[in-house]
Amino acid sequence: MSGVTYRIRLLGTEDQRLAWELGSLAFGYHGQPMPEDWASERPGRRTFGVFDSAGRLVAKAVDREQGQWFGGRVVPASGVAGVATAAELRGRGLGRLVLTRLLREARERGAVISTLFDTTAGPYRALGWEEVGALVYYAVPTRVLAEIRADAGTTLRPATEADIPTVGEIYREVARAGTGMMERSGPAFGATPAQLLADYDGLTVAVDGTGAIVGYARWDRGPGYDESGRLTVDDLIGLTPEATRTLLAMLGGWASVAPTTAIRLGTADPVWSLLARGDAKPESAQPWMLRLVDAPGAVAARGWPRLLTGEVDLELTDDVCPWNQGRHRLVLEGGKGRLEPGGAGTVRLTPRGLASWYAGAATPRQLRRSGFLTGGDAGTDELLHAATAGPVPTLHNYF
Ligand SMILES: CC(C)(COP(=O)(O)OP(=O)(O)OC[C@H]1O[C@@H](n2cnc3c(N)ncnc32)[C@H](O)[C@@H]1OP(=O)(O)O)[C@@H](O)C(=O)NCCC(=O)NCCS
Repeated sequence: MSGVTYRIRLLGTEDQRLAWELGSLAFGYHGQPMPEDWASERPGRRTFGVFDSAGRLVAKAVDREQGQWFGGRVVPASGVAGVATAAELRGRGLGRLVLTRLLREARERGAVISTLFDTTAGPYRALGWEEVGALVYYAVPTRVLAEIRADAGTTLRPATEADIPTVGEIYREVARAGTGMMERSGPAFGATPAQLLADYDGLTVAVDGTGAIVGYARWDRGPGYDESGRLTVDDLIGLTPEATRTLLAMLGGWASVAPTTAIRLGTADPVWSLLARGDAKPESAQPWMLRLVDAPGAVAARGWPRLLTGEVDLELTDDVCPWNQGRHRLVLEGGKGRLEPGGAGTVRLTPRGLASWYAGAATPRQLRRSGFLTGGDAGTDELLHAATAGPVPTLHNYF
């Protein structure tokens, strides 16, 4: 970047066309006109832009204000999206420049972790994010679902606007028990019940014998009724086995006109108790990455195993978020955790190692083999493993 002066600032209303042009070219929708009401800046989103001395927008990145569930608590996150550098200037440090600034500013507004869906891992790994999970759609022959028997005591009906809060609570109950699931509230989730209903061809609720809603499915019916006919199911959540079974059986009812069902599922979803993995082929997988923005803040924000008490001395390396760097003592007690400054720095973690460990995406032994964790012994490995061993990281919101 020698010889050229770049300026980074938040985009304002006057910059929206530049943001559209850079983003649409990078992500391949430049053939479409910019919608009149389009804006990169929306509630819960702000865009950092790098400008050259001629005032041209040459790189950008969006910071989304969101929360994600870890250990039963919502952790404030910066969801990074819309990252692009002008074609002629890629590989010259502008991506690093804008993302480093975004991380600093995200920390200032209270984000303690950052997540993103990577179309390319290299630039984010260079800055300390690590892949911890993937959002996967499985293609299932719909006739396989037609073999599942609905429960006689469970009824199905289309959701109404009045059901939307209950549907939200059912999702939250599952998200709270997961690792990394999105909290679907906050500034980026401002849709009204009517808009949520309009988003899908079907939002079906499962009702038990007492009249309580115990599950739901959100689905879209694609075009055609020949071989190409398909259903896409973004959420299928049963709080009871009967609800899960009955919702799957409903999907099976489409077998004659939609031979394929694409369904978004986590690795350990209860749907797998009714579906053989051999019948479901991964159709698309969108990996997602995690980074700790503020290590002490991230440790304090998440929940930890209530029955685990212990301490480990850590030494964190982090040249992108230097405030994380150095020796910290991890103290876990009664379901809470804290990072205190100091200690002997016994276990050394890189930013990618810290992210993997925090999400429970890899065990300390695996991190050791990847070169992300050094030092310590079997005892520190065991404590660190137990601290974040939990549900496989799962995220069912693309952004
Ligand atoms: C991805 C993109 C934003 C990166 O921006 P950039 O300005 O080229 O990135 P930088 O030059 O600042 O590189 C940042 C780091 O990533 C590394 N990097 C960049 N491209 C890489 C690649 N393809 N593979 C591996 N590493 C890569 C660089 O080596 C650098 O690391 P270093 O500073 O430790 O040497 C840019 O290539 C782009 O606009 N691509 C098209 C759109 C896109 O894919 N966006 C990402 C959506 S998730």
